[in-house]
Amino acid sequence: MSMDITQRDEAEQTARWNGAAGQAWVDTRAVLDELFKPFEKLLVDAVVTEHAQHVLDVGCGTGATTLAVARRLGAQGSDTQGRSVGVDLSEPMVMDARVRAEQEGSRASFVLADAQEHAFEPATFDMVISRFGVMFFNDSVKAFTNLRRAAREDAALRFIAWRGPAENPFMTTAERAAAPFMPDMPARRPDEPGQFAFADADRVRRVLEESGWAGIDIRPVDVTCALPERELVRYFTRLGPLGLVLREADERTRTHIIETVRAAFDPYTRGAEVRFTAACWTVGARASAT
Ligand SMILES: C[S@@+](CC[C@H](N)C(=O)[O-])C[C@H]1O[C@@H](n2cnc3c(N)ncnc32)[C@H](O)[C@@H]1O
Repeated sequence: MSMDITQRDEAEQTARWNGAAGQAWVDTRAVLDELFKPFEKLLVDAVVTEHAQHVLDVGCGTGATTLAVARRLGAQGSDTQGRSVGVDLSEPMVMDARVRAEQEGSRASFVLADAQEHAFEPATFDMVISRFGVMFFNDSVKAFTNLRRAAREDAALRFIAWRGPAENPFMTTAERAAAPFMPDMPARRPDEPGQFAFADADRVRRVLEESGWAGIDIRPVDVTCALPERELVRYFTRLGPLGLVLREADERTRTHIIETVRAAFDPYTRGAEVRFTAACWTVGARASAT
């Protein structure tokens, strides 16, 4: 029974990120990368502090953080040694990341695979990082155990995940405003793989402990993020639960929803900019001996 649910979740995530959600991230990647740039910097700084040379970026998406790490490793003059590798199960996103790498002459490389079960070469990476890419596993212990195997003993883990929806009202503004018009919009379940799956710090700690990670350090981090107001409609019509169902609405409903949702974002709009606070966890740990 639970096996069926696990398999269904897994297939659902793969389909989602290879379908509409993945394509939406590719199409809006410039906005998203700008929006989440503070977290890219946070992770690159952590790589520098760790003196890491072989870095794995999990759920790397279109590759912004993987590429930023590769640039940084190159800048340290270690380009013959350093490796920045991204792994992601979304084909459109990995394809996009590879094109970007080629365009900027980056040595970053990208693996199209499920990080949960991909047979990474054991004890390879001295740091594992992720910007919002580790909350989608249907079996988180299996995933972090697999990542720990890919890591060298004492390697650092550092990832960013969202705290709960109550602390991140911006993230649910669109779906709350659109809900009365879109009864079929799937409700978020706190226990399902997804954006807020790591909201509970105790759960994150348990997952990491059970997966062989030690020295677990979970801290809240609040970061101001901004996107240009002119991108707001594209942002909420393409991404998140509303983005997934809005395509099915007829033109009149769609226009009405867009007006209503746009108004719901007024508290975040300051002239040409939309600003909000991202309430996240920064999670650190070390790979213990296997
Ligand atoms: C919210 S996006 C973040 C993308 C990227 N890290 C960024 O910050 O732009 C989550 C990413 O995790 C990927 N993902 C979800 N489940 C995965 C899995 N089991 N293995 C590898 N990647 C996964 C998705 O395809 C998606 O690219």
